[in-house]
Amino acid sequence: MIYLDNAATSWPKPEQVYRTLSSFARRAGANPGRGAHRMALEAARAIVGVRADLASLLGVEQPERIVFTRNATEALNLALFGSVKPGDHVIVSDVEHNAVMRPLKVLKDRGVAVTTVRTDDHGRIEPDLVQRALRPNTRLIALTYASNVLGTIQPVAEVGRIAREAGVAFLVDAAQAVGELPIDLRTLPVDLMAFSGHKGLLGPTGTGGLYIGPGQNPEPLIYGGTGSRSEVDYQPEFLPDRYESGTLNSVGLAGLGAGVRFLLKKKVQEVRRHTLALTQRLLDGLAGIAGVTVYGPEEAAERVALVSFNVGYLPSTDGAYLLDRGYGIACRGGLHCAPAAHRKLGSLALGGAIRFSPGIFTTAEEIDQAVEAVAKLARECRTD
Ligand SMILES: Cc1ncc(COP(=O)(O)O)c(C=O)c1O
Repeated sequence: MIYLDNAATSWPKPEQVYRTLSSFARRAGANPGRGAHRMALEAARAIVGVRADLASLLGVEQPERIVFTRNATEALNLALFGSVKPGDHVIVSDVEHNAVMRPLKVLKDRGVAVTTVRTDDHGRIEPDLVQRALRPNTRLIALTYASNVLGTIQPVAEVGRIAREAGVAFLVDAAQAVGELPIDLRTLPVDLMAFSGHKGLLGPTGTGGLYIGPGQNPEPLIYGGTGSRSEVDYQPEFLPDRYESGTLNSVGLAGLGAGVRFLLKKKVQEVRRHTLALTQRLLDGLAGIAGVTVYGPEEAAERVALVSFNVGYLPSTDGAYLLDRGYGIACRGGLHCAPAAHRKLGSLALGGAIRFSPGIFTTAEEIDQAVEAVAKLARECRTD
């Protein structure tokens, strides 16, 4: 099988992630922060360690500013519902994931105004248009770091500077960027950043988090036991406990820690070099196939490692099915939970697009085989 669905979740994980999941569950499977016996303390120490390693990967000076969630979706919900109130105004792009758009739809029904800024044909936002969309009551700008449909990397630093100057919170959906693009939150003007633990960070599913920058204090989504200040009626105000009620996914987080340490050793720049070369190879290969429409920037440097395309008039989910059953290629067809991006591309009629997303363990040979498979599929479609 050729796995080209790393944008959904990375696979395989580094060997040490599997090893850690098993050994941690056996050795330190107690409840972290809920007891003083040695196993509970070991579990708690491991979570502190993961937070510290992640902070060093992302350039976060205070590790407690990273709070763990189940996935990027929960982190985005926390940031949006926790920061925005009726009467506020939010600016967003037209290529956002449903993890942003659906919470915003609910907030809109509750009296929040939302401006959707149109991106260019490749899904890139023009910072000037964000500047012009600002209003006196703008509370937050939400932008994906990289589109999960077009791959386009957004000018996050420029938009962040606009947000800073205007005194508006800047929320970045980094689900497709962490672990693949070098990110340094000491210099990047971002206030809130949501991420998945199970994609580029190479952890297991059920892991993710939100970076909460200085000056940000969203209302928690969930209240309850934190193992700290139990005598107090209200939720603790301090980080990360304010946002981490209930038993943490300690086994998953230990696995995430192994993924993060793998990246710290290998270096994100090296991951990027590898996936960039594969993405360019994929783009060049697909560009040479008659009947294939490729979406997004032609240069891999302007993208993260994903390429969406369609084959003639073949519905995208049929294409993904045929690639799996006929050629052993695991990829994703459909709307990728981002119908707004497909509406913009005009790909709704084909039910979205086929998306190939290589990862750190994908090889150049696998990309060549995948391109060859698409070429065969395109030929079959033409004779049909
Ligand atoms: C851009 C973007 N945002 C948010 C998400 C949601 O991530 P998760 O599955 O970790 O909730 C995804 C997942 O595909 C994504 O690509």
